Amino acid sequence: MATGTSLSDVFPLGSRLNERGRLEVGGCDTIELAREFGTPAYVVAEDDLRSRARAFVAAGRNAGHDDFHVVFASKAFPCTAVLQLLAQEGLWCDAASGGELHLALRAGFRPERIVLHGNAKSEAELRMALRHRVGLIVLDNFDEIDRLEALMTEGALGGAPSRDAVVEQPVLVRVTPGVQGETHEKISTGQADSKFGFAMAQAAQALERVLGVDGLRLEGVHAHIGSQLLSLEPFRSAAAELAKLGDFPVWDLGGGLGVRYTADQQAPPAIEEYVGAIVQAAHSHGMGSDKRLLIEPGRALSANAGVTLYTVESVKRNVSRWVAVDGGMSDNLRPMLYGARYEAHVADRFDGCTECVLVGKHCESGDVIVRDALLEDPKPGDVIVTPATGAYGYAMADNYNGVCRPPVIFCRDGDARVVVRRESFEDLTARDVL
Ligand code: LLP
Repeated sequence: MATGTSLSDVFPLGSRLNERGRLEVGGCDTIELAREFGTPAYVVAEDDLRSRARAFVAAGRNAGHDDFHVVFASKAFPCTAVLQLLAQEGLWCDAASGGELHLALRAGFRPERIVLHGNAKSEAELRMALRHRVGLIVLDNFDEIDRLEALMTEGALGGAPSRDAVVEQPVLVRVTPGVQGETHEKISTGQADSKFGFAMAQAAQALERVLGVDGLRLEGVHAHIGSQLLSLEPFRSAAAELAKLGDFPVWDLGGGLGVRYTADQQAPPAIEEYVGAIVQAAHSHGMGSDKRLLIEPGRALSANAGVTLYTVESVKRNVSRWVAVDGGMSDNLRPMLYGARYEAHVADRFDGCTECVLVGKHCESGDVIVRDALLEDPKPGDVIVTPATGAYGYAMADNYNGVCRPPVIFCRDGDARVVVRRESFEDLTARDVL
């Protein structure tokens, strides 16, 4: 909520209300952005993304671990401009499919800095990862190990650069450490009975199996216990559990650090605090500074860097006051999937106090973006902003009702540039084969 001209940390760093009382993101007036680029639009403050990336990287060093790498979970914002920016900042990239691998490579991540995930990797995806020599393939199940073994036997990794070099594919084994954080069940992954990874009880057998495959180099283990976690305890417990599996050169502790979506929600631990706690837990469980430590933040890097702009199309009052905008579940599925809460404001009239239901334009009663929005006298034509939409909004966008997906606009120092154009009606039929 605004107080004077300062805004809560739900908004991108450097956001403010300008002299005209309008929201500015990355130095750009959001009403002007809406006018120039149309709505709905995802607006990203470039400096915010960079500074969070830098905070993650610096935190590892400051915590006393040099061989520490921040692997961006690209699923959170799989857009080339975002990936390019994070590659420039020295991050690594988590790709969870052939498509994400393609995006990561195209954005300029060096293959050795790419970690391939997935609980149902196809033969084609594994082949692609081998062909590009990705840094790590994270093994999820026995069938995948069989499939990879067959590919190794067939020589899918290609020849050695020199005759003496041994060509091996580095791999990790994903386990579910039996640790559950407090989060929505749909984004909880650390429990033993999960579709992801090996249960702890099977881990020894999986590790043994991998050691028996010629051409695979077992580097270590991986766990991702869940997303939107606001407490550090589950991360510490996961490190303690992983340590029970043996001694390895690489430990990947996954992502999951939560963010604040509305100013009244509990604040997550700061990036430095989270990384400090992870490194400390790792060190105290034998993953010392001679080991490679990886973490895989997604949301904590990008969620608060982005806001969505909409335009009000209609306001009606029956029992509630319904404010309908030009987007909805096609650009932000999170409220519908996880009951996620967001806040909303009229972009040039903050501090509203009229309770409204902010809804989208889709033919679905569940298309509610914010159930309890406090808006100031919303009218057709007003620009509405929902902050904290920089993670999993663009990624999960769809074309329900033939609605075109929004553009992504990068803003920095008052300059705005389109990095993904708005989808067109022609795009909607572009794949038709008639
Ligand atoms: N590493 C792995 C192996 C993951 O599966 C995920 C997320 C991450 C890292 C990054 O998690 P984060 O730091 O962003 O919490 N669509 C849901 C989130 C699904 C997350 C799936 N995996 C949402 O909108 O909340």
